[in-house]
Amino acid sequence: MGMAAARFLFSFMLASLLALASLHGAHAVHFTVVNRALNTSGGMRFENELGVNYTQQKMGNSTNFIWNIFNETTPADRKNVKNVSLFVDNIPGIAHVIGNEIHVGAKYIEGITGDIKTEFNGVLYHEMTHIWQNHGNHQAPNGLIEGIADFVRLKANYVPHNWAKPGEGLSWKQGSSVTARFLDYCNGLHQQQGFVAELNKKMRDGYSDNFFHELLGKTVDQLWTDYKAKHAN
Ligand SMILES: *[C@@H]1O[C@H](CO)[C@@H](O)[C@H](O)[C@H]1NC(C)=O
Ligand SMILES: *[C@@H]1O[C@H](CO)[C@@H](O)[C@H](O)[C@H]1NC(C)=O
Ligand SMILES: *[C@@H]1O[C@H](CO)[C@@H](O)[C@H](O)[C@H]1NC(C)=O
Ligand SMILES: *[C@@H]1O[C@H](CO)[C@@H](O)[C@H](O)[C@H]1NC(C)=O
Ligand SMILES: *[C@@H]1O[C@H](CO)[C@@H](O)[C@H](O)[C@H]1NC(C)=O
Repeated sequence: MGMAAARFLFSFMLASLLALASLHGAHAVHFTVVNRALNTSGGMRFENELGVNYTQQKMGNSTNFIWNIFNETTPADRKNVKNVSLFVDNIPGIAHVIGNEIHVGAKYIEGITGDIKTEFNGVLYHEMTHIWQNHGNHQAPNGLIEGIADFVRLKANYVPHNWAKPGEGLSWKQGSSVTARFLDYCNGLHQQQGFVAELNKKMRDGYSDNFFHELLGKTVDQLWTDYKAKHAN
């Protein structure tokens, strides 16, 4: 085997095992993907239908998308994260974030129906938002944190069929798709500035429901009432 071929084979094997890449330019974030469930059908499905390279690319794409939604144009605006890892694990559930690691369940991947890339990217954009969003020094309601993650998923156009429709839900902080739809409404009231971007900025060091009033001139409860009224019929 020639030198070039040997080198190619080596890099292919290395990439298949574990891929490490950095985005060049202003933002050097490392994205690592490790499939630790190769001996399960979900892990095999990940390998065959998604793959390490594809996932790594989408980690970069989602990161750029999120920085853009949050209007974080310079590195100083962004959270100081240098290394994000995604693991496919033999764990129950869909996916979760611990620190700067995303863990995706192999069983979940095994069971995906419909277009696997659309579904997987929806989950990836959601989880990646948890990496980059501000958590208000852990004072923000969990429903809002989840809602912002699903707002990004909505904006990226990866909406699953079972989501709440606009106007549905019992509370603005119910979370996930209910809160995402409400945030989309709020965002529409404050389009030039990007309401969600401004809200996320305010959530750097703490949290108050009053942030809604400061940005939109109405309390969050009034905004929710307006939102429900708009969709009442
Ligand atoms: C996969 O391998 C791990 C570690 O070798 C083992 O703990 C686990 O039981 C295996 N899972 C299956 C489904 O074979
Ligand atoms: C994955 O990407 C690396 C370089 O980033 C490339 O060398 C390798 O051939 C790719 N593997 C697959 C399976 O596409
Ligand atoms: C996604 O990432 C790849 C690899 O970094 C890049 O070539 C491509 O332009 C990106 N696509 C978008 C829409 O950002
Ligand atoms: C990134 O973090 C993962 C674990 O989360 C670790 O295995 C890997 O070595 C780290 N990579 C770099 C470049 O720090
Ligand atoms: C983004 O932030 C800059 C300040 O860093 C501001 O001048 C600009 O208006 C913001 N753009 C949007 C769309 O929010």
